[in-house]
Amino acid sequence: MKVLVTGHQGYLGSVMVPVLQDAGCDVVGLDNGYFRDCVLGQPPVDPPTLAVDLRDVTVEQLQGFDAVVHLAALSNDPLGALAPDITYDINHHASVRLARLAKEAGVSRFLYASTCSVYGAAGDGLVNEDAPLHPLTPYAISKVRVEDDLVALADSSFTPVFLRNATAFGFSPRLRADIVLNNLVGHAVLTGLVRVLSDGTPWRPLVHARDIARAFAVCLTAPTEVINCRAYNVGSDMNNLTVAQIAAAVVDVVPGSELLITGETGADPRSYRVDFARARAELGYEATWSVADGAAELYGEYTANGLTAHDFANRFVRLSRLEQLRGCGELDETMRRVSAAV
Ligand SMILES: NC(=O)c1ccc[n+]([C@@H]2O[C@H](COP(=O)([O-])OP(=O)(O)OC[C@H]3O[C@@H](n4cnc5c(N)ncnc54)[C@H](O)[C@@H]3O)[C@@H](O)[C@H]2O)c1
Repeated sequence: MKVLVTGHQGYLGSVMVPVLQDAGCDVVGLDNGYFRDCVLGQPPVDPPTLAVDLRDVTVEQLQGFDAVVHLAALSNDPLGALAPDITYDINHHASVRLARLAKEAGVSRFLYASTCSVYGAAGDGLVNEDAPLHPLTPYAISKVRVEDDLVALADSSFTPVFLRNATAFGFSPRLRADIVLNNLVGHAVLTGLVRVLSDGTPWRPLVHARDIARAFAVCLTAPTEVINCRAYNVGSDMNNLTVAQIAAAVVDVVPGSELLITGETGADPRSYRVDFARARAELGYEATWSVADGAAELYGEYTANGLTAHDFANRFVRLSRLEQLRGCGELDETMRRVSAAV
């Protein structure tokens, strides 16, 4: 099966490509390389790559693929707040355009990386895929809009699937430090403190990057009649945790670290506990990585690869990296690359 993976040079893409290749897929990537050089440890071996901006992809470039795995996006809430228009441009309009062109090119399956952030502030009850959506930020709103627009494209020749991923964790050679577990372990390694910038009560379901990759691999081959236009929460019941519980797992793993819960009212109002039964029942899919194992993995990789405080706060933070690229003239005002080499 020939698969185009957009955003393959990102945090999840760099883990997903080898998983799909091991499952027998012939993978081509598409990325404009915002984070191509943001590597900790051994650089990943990229597949053949279309080095283009998602907004400029052509129908010819999409011909010959059986499926598209669409990861490319400005991928978190602070980035969306920095430039909401560009977030909608890339995350919503360019995603729907990509799907339309893929369908025109004869691609039959389109796996979309959505997010559990679409549930917003959902309280303490479990939310399943039929729950009302309350996206709170341009990032989350863009994800809901894409899901809605892709439903309208679905027919017997084109199968969109929406994978609503929990917040990811775990080591990727193209590391992200701005997601909760990766961030807490990094701070603990670098400062000895596991610092929670809230009262710790928000629910934040987590899932390992490799478990996300496996969910996409499963959806590439699942029967069309099962998955057509279906949304799946991707994660596991055991990792439906509060931020305070996640922090406690980090204290257990990082020797000598201490917990500090500041009790501030955080800037992030998201809180949701997620029901993962549908993927289990319909796809036989279960995420297997626990938060404790992920924290131990991150601790090992950070220490073995000499993570520095500067990189942790700059190269591996999506917002800082893009601001740096804009500051040095590598990106224009629309966040398109002005040259191929960084
Ligand atoms: N990491 C998470 O916790 C998480 C959780 C839920 C959903 N998701 C979704 O999964 C996807 C991947 O997330 P990630 O953590 O790997 O993000 P990331 O920021 O690490 O990677 C995104 C990739 O997309 C590329 N990209 C962005 N805009 C582009 C454009 N205009 N043209 C071409 N390439 C472009 C970037 O260069 C980058 O390589 C995103 O859609 C994100 O919303 C991530």
